[in-house]
Amino acid sequence: RDFDVKNKRVLVRCDFNVPFDAEGKVADDFRIQATLPTIEYILKKKGKLVLMTHLGDPEGKVIQRLKVDGIKEKLAELIDVSVTKAPDCVGKGVEALVAKMAPGEILLLENLRFHKEEQKNNKSFAQQLALLGDIYVNDAFSVCHRAHASVVGVPRILPSFPGLFLAHELEGLERLLKNPKHPVVAIIGGVKLESKLPVIDAISRVAD
Ligand code: 3PG
Repeated sequence: RDFDVKNKRVLVRCDFNVPFDAEGKVADDFRIQATLPTIEYILKKKGKLVLMTHLGDPEGKVIQRLKVDGIKEKLAELIDVSVTKAPDCVGKGVEALVAKMAPGEILLLENLRFHKEEQKNNKSFAQQLALLGDIYVNDAFSVCHRAHASVVGVPRILPSFPGLFLAHELEGLERLLKNPKHPVVAIIGGVKLESKLPVIDAISRVAD
């Protein structure tokens, strides 16, 4: 809310790394729903919305089932605004699509991890992404522990802001860590234990 996004290209890092069912439909849209306040705010303020996400771990290769088409469909259904999907996340073709955008439009970039440079936090890849926005917004709390180009590289280049969902998560975390109301019960889920162990460690100092 600290920036007037009118007519500006707003490059938003989302975490739309969602599960799919056997028919290729989004099976759980929680992460898409969580970003809607930021998306709706930018649309209402007449920004040009360029959304980027990773999906799964294609390790730098294009994998059909990890394309973001299903996410595009679900997003369009949730916000009732048409969403254009770019065939890639960087390059001249994508730059041309962004150049044509009108205020209040949405462009969803193809899976960032189809380029191995994303996870390597490659500087020139971050520069190519940065060409697609006037400002950068991070609304992907659940990828903030990854030092990837779209998370830490782009905000070194563009003016950057937290999205409304990220800010909400940080406020909750701060309340829990700095001013917990006891007794605190932590409920922890998820599959990637190696990246959760340090978090479990930190929370176990607060939880009863
Ligand atoms: C997640 O699902 O935990 C986030 O989207 C991060 O995904 P990653 O563990 O593949 O980096």
